[in-house]
Amino acid sequence: MDRIRVEGGRALCGSVYIQGSKNAALPVMAAAVLHRGITVLKNCPCITDVSDMERILESLGARTMRRGHVLTLDCRDIHGFCVPLEYGRRMRSSVILMGSLLGRRGKVTVPYPGGCTIGRRPVDLHLKIFKKMGIYVEERRGMLHASCREIQPTEHRFPFCSVGATENAILAAAACKGRTVLKNCAVEPEVKNLCLFLKKMGVKIQGTGTDCLVIEGGSQLKDTEFTIPSDRIAAGTYLFAGAITRGRVTLHRAPVEELTSILQVYEKMGGQYYRNSGKLVTDSRRIRYPVPYLETEAYPGFPTDMQSVLMSVLATVKGDSVIREQIFEERFKIVSPLNRMGARILVDGRDALIHGTSALKGQHVFAEELRGGAALVLAGLAADGVTVIENPHFIRRGYENFCENLAALGGKITVDR
Ligand code: EPZ
Repeated sequence: MDRIRVEGGRALCGSVYIQGSKNAALPVMAAAVLHRGITVLKNCPCITDVSDMERILESLGARTMRRGHVLTLDCRDIHGFCVPLEYGRRMRSSVILMGSLLGRRGKVTVPYPGGCTIGRRPVDLHLKIFKKMGIYVEERRGMLHASCREIQPTEHRFPFCSVGATENAILAAAACKGRTVLKNCAVEPEVKNLCLFLKKMGVKIQGTGTDCLVIEGGSQLKDTEFTIPSDRIAAGTYLFAGAITRGRVTLHRAPVEELTSILQVYEKMGGQYYRNSGKLVTDSRRIRYPVPYLETEAYPGFPTDMQSVLMSVLATVKGDSVIREQIFEERFKIVSPLNRMGARILVDGRDALIHGTSALKGQHVFAEELRGGAALVLAGLAADGVTVIENPHFIRRGYENFCENLAALGGKITVDR
């Protein structure tokens, strides 16, 4: 098993190019299934969640071709409707294929997307809108079976914002003749991006980017070429890698307009930045202020996917900070390894009370999920001595060349195979 080895104490300095967005690419790949044709995705990140989704599409009958960051999907011969257990269990986001397979094949079987280390991850909101669209759903022996003669248009207000449920509803509505109105939709950039892709493919959608979407489905779709936008969470992670090492990092191709809440926190801690012809130039040498209180929220609030990496940074800032995790129930898993590295963090329900210190020490720690794994690498970059992070496969699910990029910024980081 390989592991990451980090020798801390170096301020990161230099440029990093931000990858395409994992959470934008996955729903767009699912949407390609709706069209009996060819879809070409540019700036598609080379990460294992995307390659897993490629394998799932191939198991359904699609052909995929990867040339660098260009992924071509040939979905002319989709004959399957069952998402293989191996992938469905590992990748919760495969549930997003329900909407598009129902639209394409009128039926779908997916492994019940289990909870993961960050929480229960139910899919009741997905199933509720499917039932309103005339879709029969049954759970049998850990599998979700859904089928319908014809998807029915509907009007639906989500009880609260769910990115995945919104995306699944959009995909089912895109395939159904008639007018579907969705209210209280998630407004994450990835949802807007899915609408932009579907509109380019020929689906009529009004309200793109807002929480109220009107979708006229059933139109003829066409071959489409589309560029995946940059990953806002990857950008925030490299920003905070500069912050935790008090370095100076320039981010190229960062989606700056989607980073507002992250940059606000960065400035609160003492970070400085400016934009210079498409680059985000950051200077973390004055990072020293704790964040008395912050809560994770749906977009455009501070993203839950940035919570763990922020915790690592605040563990190195003297003073008391509080982070309230409002989206997932179990997203404080890195508190224990950070405390073993010398941090002083207390969990009280949904709150993490961080008493920052300047002396983290290298430790042998275990990544348990994607964003927590990245946060442990950042902690290793700031710690005295060597930190070994096991299970780097979690990090490769969402970050392309994570260790190579950090090494290019001056981090002393290797992957021991
Ligand atoms: C998406 O997950 C992202 N994943 C997550 O990123 C991200 O953390 C999350 O949105 C929130 O922004 C992808 O886009 C592939 P939700 P998703 O449905 O769609 C509850 C990462 O690290 N809920 O918006 O699963 C749910 O339990 C990943 O890249 C229900 O109760 O998130 C959570 O508490 C992690 N019932 C809240 O809603 C449902 O039917 C928000 O979840 C669905 C969700």
